[in-house]
Amino acid sequence: MQDVEAIVKEALAAFAGIDDADRLEQAKARYLGRSGALTQLLKGLSKLPAAERPAFGSRINVAKERLEAALEEQRDRIRARQLEARLTGESLDVTLPGRGPATGGIHPVTRTMERIETLFRSMGFEVADGPEIETDYYNFTALNQPENHPARSMHDTFYLADGKHLLRTHTSPIQIRYMETHRPPIKIIAPGRVYRCDYDATHSPMFHQVEGLWIDEHITFADLKGVLVDFLRRFFEREDLRVRFRPSFFPFTEPSAEIDMSFGEGWLEMGGAGMVHPNVLANVGIDAEKFQGFAFGLGPDRLAMLRYGVNDLRLFFENDLRFLKQFN
Ligand code: FA5
Repeated sequence: MQDVEAIVKEALAAFAGIDDADRLEQAKARYLGRSGALTQLLKGLSKLPAAERPAFGSRINVAKERLEAALEEQRDRIRARQLEARLTGESLDVTLPGRGPATGGIHPVTRTMERIETLFRSMGFEVADGPEIETDYYNFTALNQPENHPARSMHDTFYLADGKHLLRTHTSPIQIRYMETHRPPIKIIAPGRVYRCDYDATHSPMFHQVEGLWIDEHITFADLKGVLVDFLRRFFEREDLRVRFRPSFFPFTEPSAEIDMSFGEGWLEMGGAGMVHPNVLANVGIDAEKFQGFAFGLGPDRLAMLRYGVNDLRLFFENDLRFLKQFN
C-alpha cells in the first residue's frame, strides 16, 4: 500500500499541472473519490492494531485537507486564467460606429399610394376617406346595383356576422358619402383598402383601390381619358405608354370602360371608369340635368406590380422581408 506522503506528493504535482476545470475534478476523484488512493488507505485502517489507528487516521485527514486546499487554489488559478483569456480575446473597439435603432422602410404599395396622391393633387384633386366596414346601401344600392346583381353574392363579398354590414368591395361607396355632404364642383380621389373573396397571382382578398370623382357642369368622357392617360404616363414616367379603354359595364356609370395597360404579351386591367350614372346623382340629390362627371377606380397594387416588375401580387402582402427590403 502506498504511503500517505507519497500519495500527497503525487497528487499535488498532478493538480499543479492541470489547467482545465473538468480535468482537475477528475484528478480529485483519483485521490479523494470513493475508490481514490487516500480513501483506499482509510479503508485499510481496520486492519491496523488498535493503538496505531488514531494516529494513522489523523495523518490521512491532514493529507485530505492539504489536497482540498491545493485543489481550491488550483481552481482559482484556472478561473483567473480563463478570465484573462476572455478579456484579451474580447477587446473593445471604441472606433466602431454605434448600433442605431433599425429604421423601417416604406412598403412598395404605400409608396405607390403616396405617389398616386401626389400626382392627383397636382391636377387639383382633393383626398377623401371612408369606412372599410360598410352597409349594403353604400356599397351597392346607392350605386345603382340591383338586388340580384352577382357582385352582391357571398362568393364575392365578405359579409359580417350581423348580416347588416360587409367589408367594402370597392372604394366607390366613398363617392356616395362625399356627394351626400358636398355639392359640385367635386374633384376628389379616395384611396383605401377593399376586400373580396379572390385569390390568385393578380387577385388578393385584401387589396387597394383609388377612387376618383370629378363632377361639374361640363365634364365629359374626354376629360376622363385626358386625366387618366396623363396620370398613367406621369406615374410610369413614359410618354409612349400604351393605355386601352375597353367598353365595359358598371351599374353606377354609363358609358363604362375598363382601363388596361400593356403587360408582357397582353394587357393587365388597371381599373374601371365611366360617366357617373344619373340614378347615382339622383340618389344623393344632385341635379343630373345640370351636373355630370366621371368616376374611376384604379388598382394601385397592380400599378405597383407593373412599376416594379413584380409578377405575383400576393408577394406584396406576405410580409417576407427578403422581398420587401428590395424596395428600400
Ligand atoms: C370596381 O371595383 C369599380 N368600383 C371601379 C369603378 C369605379 C368603375 C368608378 C367605374 C367608376 P373592378 O371590380 O373592375 O371595378 O375593380 C377595379 C380594379 O381593382 C381592377 O381593375 C383591378 O385593378 C383591381 N382589382 C380588382 N380585384 C382585385 C384583387 N382581388 N386584387 C387586386 N386588385 C384587384
